[in-house]
Formats: sequence, structure tokens, C-alpha cells
Amino acid sequence: MLETTITKMFNIRYPIIQGGLQGLGTSSLVAAVSNAGGLGLITAGSYSSKEEMLRDIEATRRLTLEPFGVNITIGVRKPMDEFVEGVIEAEIPVVFTSGNNPEKYIDLFKRHNIKVVHVVPSIRFAKKAEKLGCDAVVVVGFECGGHPGKDEVTSLILVQKAVQQLSIPVIAAGGFSTGKSMLAAFALGAQAIQMGTRFLATKEVQLHSLLKSRLLQLQETDTIIVKKSIGKPARVMKTDVAIKLAKLEENGASFEEIFPFISGEAYQELISTSNDNRGVLALGQTVGLVNEIKSVQEVIQEVITEYEIQLQSLANHFKNTTCSDRV
Ligand SMILES: Cc1cc2nc3c(=O)[nH]c(=O)nc-3n(C[C@H](O)[C@H](O)[C@H](O)COP(=O)(O)O)c2cc1C
Repeated sequence: MLETTITKMFNIRYPIIQGGLQGLGTSSLVAAVSNAGGLGLITAGSYSSKEEMLRDIEATRRLTLEPFGVNITIGVRKPMDEFVEGVIEAEIPVVFTSGNNPEKYIDLFKRHNIKVVHVVPSIRFAKKAEKLGCDAVVVVGFECGGHPGKDEVTSLILVQKAVQQLSIPVIAAGGFSTGKSMLAAFALGAQAIQMGTRFLATKEVQLHSLLKSRLLQLQETDTIIVKKSIGKPARVMKTDVAIKLAKLEENGASFEEIFPFISGEAYQELISTSNDNRGVLALGQTVGLVNEIKSVQEVIQEVITEYEIQLQSLANHFKNTTCSDRV
């Protein structure tokens, strides 16, 4: 147990939240994260209808008695209003919204006692989320897998500044995958971390096994930003297809020309078959720190243990040192 404002808000044991993961934030991963003491997030973008999502929420409830939430990415071509209805019907306690402005749904969630956390890549949007009545924000730095926003500001700056400027709790995302990084997040003032990339190399995630193994070979330099030309920058695994896509964009390709690489269909094919002729996989720089496929329980325990050891070690190291000693 490691208590923070966020663990109390969500009634969880550890301040570790699974990121929304399109196509991968489904029952097996979500239940494993919640069973291990974190907060799993069913990712609405993984389903084509409310009914499909509700069936997987049921499946998750058969696998865990612990709390879990739902991530809804607003603005993607999906039946958003239906997903919102589904969350209310299923009595989900917490929703993480991302993408476009969640304003339209906030009152509705609040009326049903659902906590709302908005995921943002900038201080401007973080302040807006607070103003709209969100209970917390996730700030996502440039290192992250998925959408880092257009300003290209890293977590080290974003998290501190969000904590300085907001009164609601801040969850740090983008580059967090170890106990040391969780300790750093707390030092910056965050109340929890959200991890996406780290959960891709776990036994429970429904990602093709060849892709999981491939992650272990990658360095922190093996990601690339694509989709900049359409105003939705995304950090993805640096594959031949991703490089080709980035080049096409640099050369002014039209949306029709790049669409085959970024369609939901191409992505689904990639994650389920590992065939990377078309789609691209969101992936963060922290992949360079991931060396082993583990169970989710092992990942979370490893983060907690490393956090405790590092905290103790820093406390011992600086015990007899005051700043004046060094002057
Ligand atoms: C494969 C993958 C899919 C993702 N899909 C979504 C999504 O559907 N919605 C969303 O809000 N964020 C999505 N993200 C972003 C994560 O929720 C999270 O913010 C990010 O991974 C944190 O940075 P990290 O990768 O450095 O841990 C995705 C990330 C990855 C790696």
C-alpha cells in the first residue's frame, strides 16, 4: 500500500494507472493491473459498439473485484455518446477522457458520481480541464507513446508546472516505467504515474507475441513522431513503415496518401498479426528501459520495490549532508 491523493480517490493500493491503450486496454490487461493494486482502464477505442464494450466490462468483472475505469478518447471516429452511456450503465467509478474537450460529458458523469480525469499534453489544456470541473489531470510529456501534443515539452517540465499551477491532483505520464521514475514523479509533485509503453511487454496484454519480443530489442532512440502533418503528432515504433510515413508527410503527402498507414484496420492487423506492412504502433522512449516480458503483477511489484529501495538509498545518502556542507 502506498497512499496518495489519487489512491484514495480511486480506492486503489498503488499510485499506478494503466494508460488508455487502443486495442490493448481490454479485460485481460485491465483486470491484471487492478488485481495488482493499480487502476486498469478499459479503452473504449478498442470496441466498435457500446455492447461490445459492455461485454468486455463484464468479462473484466469476472476477472477482478478491484476498481477499474474506462478511457474514452474524444474525437476519434467511434460512437462516443454510446460509450458514455455504457460507462454510466455499467456504473464505472472513474473515466479518463483524452483527445478533444470533454466539456459536453462532464456534468453527466458528475451527476452519476463518476470521477473524471482528463489527459492533456500542455499546461493550457490542464488549466482548462481544472476549470471544467475535472477531478484530476494526467499530464503527458513528449517522451510518451501515443500523442504528446504539439508543444514538444517533456514530462520533467510539464509535471512540475502543472503541480505549480493547478489545485487538482496531477498524474504524471510519458516516460514512466520504473520505480526510480515514479520517485522522480513524486519529487515533481505528482500523485501517481500513468504507464502505457511498459504494459506492452507484459504477459496479459493482447499484443502479438512477436511484437512483444521485438520491444525488448529496442532502444530509447527507436521511436519516431508521425502524423504531424495532420496536426495529431504521435510517437510510434520506428519501423520501415513509420519512417516511410514520416517521409511522405515531410514531402507534403495528402491525407488520402497517409490514411492507409494510420487507419484503425491497419493498426488492428499490426497488433493482432505482427504484420507491419501498413500500421504503426504507438510507443514511448521508455521502451529503452524495458528488457523483459513479465506478468503485470511482476511489473507493478518491481516498480514498487525499486521505488522503496531508491527512496531509502537517497535518504541514507543525503542523511548527513546539508546544503551548507557543500558551500
Ligand atoms: C500502444 C498504445 C496505444 C495507446 N492508445 C491510447 C488511447 O487509445 N487513448 C489514450 O488516451 N491514450 C493512448 N495511449 C497513450 C497512453 O495512454 C499513455 O498516455 C502513454 O503511453 C504514456 O506514456 P508512456 O508510453 O511513456 O508510458 C496509447 C499508448 C500506447 C503505447
